[in-house]
Amino acid sequence: MRRVDYDREQYQNYRRGRALNEQQLGAWMSAFAAALPERRPLVGLDVGSGTGRFTPALARAFGPVTGIEPAERMREVAQAQAQHPDVRYLAGSAEELPVPSDSADYALMFLAWHHVQDKPRAARELTRVIRPGGRLLLRGNFSDHHPEPWWLDHFPRGLEADLAQFQPLHEVIAMFTALGWRVASFGTVTHPSDGTRADVLERLRLRTLSFFAQLSHDEAEAGLRNIERIVAADPGAPAPALAEPLLTLERR
Ligand SMILES: C[S@@+](CC[C@H](N)C(=O)[O-])C[C@H]1O[C@@H](n2cnc3c(N)ncnc32)[C@H](O)[C@@H]1O
Repeated sequence: MRRVDYDREQYQNYRRGRALNEQQLGAWMSAFAAALPERRPLVGLDVGSGTGRFTPALARAFGPVTGIEPAERMREVAQAQAQHPDVRYLAGSAEELPVPSDSADYALMFLAWHHVQDKPRAARELTRVIRPGGRLLLRGNFSDHHPEPWWLDHFPRGLEADLAQFQPLHEVIAMFTALGWRVASFGTVTHPSDGTRADVLERLRLRTLSFFAQLSHDEAEAGLRNIERIVAADPGAPAPALAEPLLTLERR
């Protein structure tokens, strides 16, 4: 995949382009609660925390969270939001986690794993920092388990370009099981509708998806024009809910 540098692109519009409504955030928090041990507090890491879409909610639900994010500009946006006393943001990456060994009960990586350049090193780091019995929540896409949003096929090479960013599920699982992890669960979470298709088009125009970095300028423009035609024909049509994959691994 073409690497996305979040210090140069997306950071200005990410919060707007990828905003979650209350229902959507609630659906994810319920899925995370079901995948985590029941005791509280839990010490959490939000690895690739971006603008902190999930970090304060994780702190409210489970206990203290460290958001770890390599892009300074994304961290700045996160830090400018209302802070929770149990949230801190640190510079770092999945390959170099700035926290002690065996210090976390869980890590969330929400659409961050496919950005990791050195995945074997990141898997070793996650193994170092998560305690035995702890969990890794990987909300990733996988080349063989992909939610395929309604708008994807309207871009030339849309599906192909998007799939090329992701590993197949078995490859991710093999990397972690080789380090002593086990699959605790794998399934999909229903991500409630983003509103109307017109709302989705407005967000797509902000290009806060790494998918756009995989397309040429002409392909992106052609896709947006195709979607504009579809939206114009029925502006109030609702965007369908999506079934999005969540892999939970347990460190043994
Ligand atoms: C699609 S955004 C997701 C942000 C956040 N998790 C969310 O759901 O809003 C991907 C994030 O991963 C970060 N990232 C890129 N490379 C990374 C790495 N090696 N380790 C951790 N995070 C990384 C990016 O800087 C970016 O903020």
